[in-house]
Formats: sequence, C-alpha cells, structure tokens
Amino acid sequence: MSLAARAVRRLSRLAPLFVVLLVLVAAACARDYPQTTLAPKGDLARIEDDIFFTTVKWAVLVFVLVEGALVYAIFRFRGKPGDAEPEQIHGNTMVEIIWTVIPALILAMIAVPTVKAIFKENETPKGPNVLTVEVIGHQWWWEFRYPEYNLTTANELHVPVGRTVSLKMGAYDVIHSFWLPEFAGKRDVFPNRETRLWFTAEEPGEYSGQCAEFCGIQHGRMAFRVEAQEPAAFQTWVDHMKTLAAQPAAAAVAAPSTDSVHTSTAGATVQQPAGDLAAQGQKLFLTKGCVGCHSLVAYNAPQGLLGPNLANVGARTYIAAGTLKNTDENLAHWIRNPQEVKHGVLMPVLGVTEDEAKALVAFLRTHQ
Ligand code: CUA
Repeated sequence: MSLAARAVRRLSRLAPLFVVLLVLVAAACARDYPQTTLAPKGDLARIEDDIFFTTVKWAVLVFVLVEGALVYAIFRFRGKPGDAEPEQIHGNTMVEIIWTVIPALILAMIAVPTVKAIFKENETPKGPNVLTVEVIGHQWWWEFRYPEYNLTTANELHVPVGRTVSLKMGAYDVIHSFWLPEFAGKRDVFPNRETRLWFTAEEPGEYSGQCAEFCGIQHGRMAFRVEAQEPAAFQTWVDHMKTLAAQPAAAAVAAPSTDSVHTSTAGATVQQPAGDLAAQGQKLFLTKGCVGCHSLVAYNAPQGLLGPNLANVGARTYIAAGTLKNTDENLAHWIRNPQEVKHGVLMPVLGVTEDEAKALVAFLRTHQ
C-alpha cells in the first residue's frame, strides 16, 4: 500500500469525529447566541458581515491552494531509499514575481471593499427620516435620549424598523463601548468626546447589546436591550412614554413628603399610584433618597442624574442593566441590597426593610 493510500485510510478513521463536529456547529444557531455577529439584522451589520466573509473566502482559497500544493509535494516528491540527491537550485525570478503579484492582488480585493466600508460606516446619516438618539455610557448602565421627542430612558432602547437610527454617543465617567452586534457592530464611547454610529433595523424583535470595553468591576453587567418595532408600534410607545410625564406636578403633593426640593430636582412629578401599598411606596421613594438619583418622568426629564430614569421601569424586561429579570422578587432584592447584586454600583444600601421594599416595588410597578 502506498504512503498516500495509508494516510487517506488513517484520515478516514477520523471521519465520524468530523461529522460530530459539523453537527455541533450546525446546531449552534443564532437564536442560542443572541449576541452573534454572524446573523446580521441591519444594514450596517450586513456591511461588516460582507467584509468578514470576503476576507474568509480569500483566506480559505489561499489556505486550500497553499496547503494542497504542500501536501501534494510531500507525497509526490517524497524521497525513497537509494534516490540520488535532487538537483539543487537557487532563485527563480518568474516564480518570485508570480508569488508577489498574486498576494498583492488578493490583498487589494480585500482592501478596496474594507476601505469603502470604513468610509460608509463613518458617514453621519442625514435627512428628515433619520432618528437621532443620544447614548451615554455610565458605570454600569446605558442612558438613551431621544431629542426629537424629548424622551429619556435607560437600558432599553426602542427603535422603529426601517428608519435609520443615528447614535450620538458619549460617556459620563470612563470609556465604555456600545456593542449591538446584530445591528451595528461596536464603537467606543468616551467622556468629553462624541463618537457616532448608525444602523437601520430590518425586523421587529428584541436584540441584545453589551458594553464591550472593560470599564470597572461590573463591566460584565452592563447590558442593554433593543426593541425594534414597526413604525406605528414605535409611535405608540413614544406617545405612551410622553404620558408618563403628563401628570400634573400637584400629583407629587399627594405624597406626604418632606423632601420637596428633591422632588423637583429629579422631576418626580409622580403619577398617583393605585392602592395603599403603592401609595406607601411613593412616600418611601420620596423619603428614602431614591428621588435624589432617579427621575420618574421620561418627557423633558432632568439631565445629569446619577441613576437610570425609571419612568417605565415597571415595564422593562430586566433591571440593573440586564443583570436581573424584572420580577417583583428581584426588584425588591435589588432595592434592599444593590451591592450584593452588583458590587461597586453607585446605588447605596439605603436600609430598606422587606416590607418597605414590597411597597417600593408596588409603586415602581405602577410606572410602566
Ligand atoms: Cu461599560 Cu464596560
């Protein structure tokens, strides 16, 4: 049996292993990995995906040709006992020109679309149909503002399908990185410096994003959610968010609070909560210090507060920037002991009892 035949037989014994690997790779679909970069759902992500696969295609071609030639040469020209020493040669101008020109051409095939994509990515989309959203990275949560609607929200970004979203990004404290793989790839955000990113969502749905630059001990718990909605549903959301602030300021007076200064600082023109427990929660919200850092209005919300806007906190899927599912139990746990959930977070332990936490949860649940 020839050497080549023996090698082929040996390799064929590994075939079942290759099949298993193939099945495993095929089973790993995008749904199981919501932050995959391999399932683009927006124009910018598609540009990046195209560049990736252009590069991979050329790399695979080079790999197959070079390794194929190598393997062929190993077996075809293998020395046998008793062979004479092969002819010794040095240099071949023609071959050297060929193996210089071909890689240069391949690199050009990759470089041209890459440079074009870089310029396209760095364009700032303009026009009446562009929705500008301001993104501010905080340790460790995301603030989103919609100047067009005067709305502020946190950790959950709503966008209309088919309308280009132009992100004006910055950071409150340290460098973070906005990473939304299915729509827009990744871009760093800095204090005192604006960076831009844009994308157009193609399909309604929920998408995951994450801070992608180490920004402190809870960097790993700085996620955000994007909800892409049909334009009509998005408009409904905008209109609803505006009503969250439409309560008369007098509503806050209903809370027997001693802290009217804080109330106005945070713009907490709170809604009249339903039920005794919620009313008790409202009082606690105003007296326990929550109101010093969190606003409960989305429309014309005060800027520069330390904590995330809570206008629609009751409706969010997660709390603490993707850390916990927004259940009553988790919310109460977070309120009572944020440092246990997310050590190092700015939110202090405020000495809230179990019953007080229940009341605060009931109050926050009314904000959705
Ligand atoms: Cu913010 Cu990492």
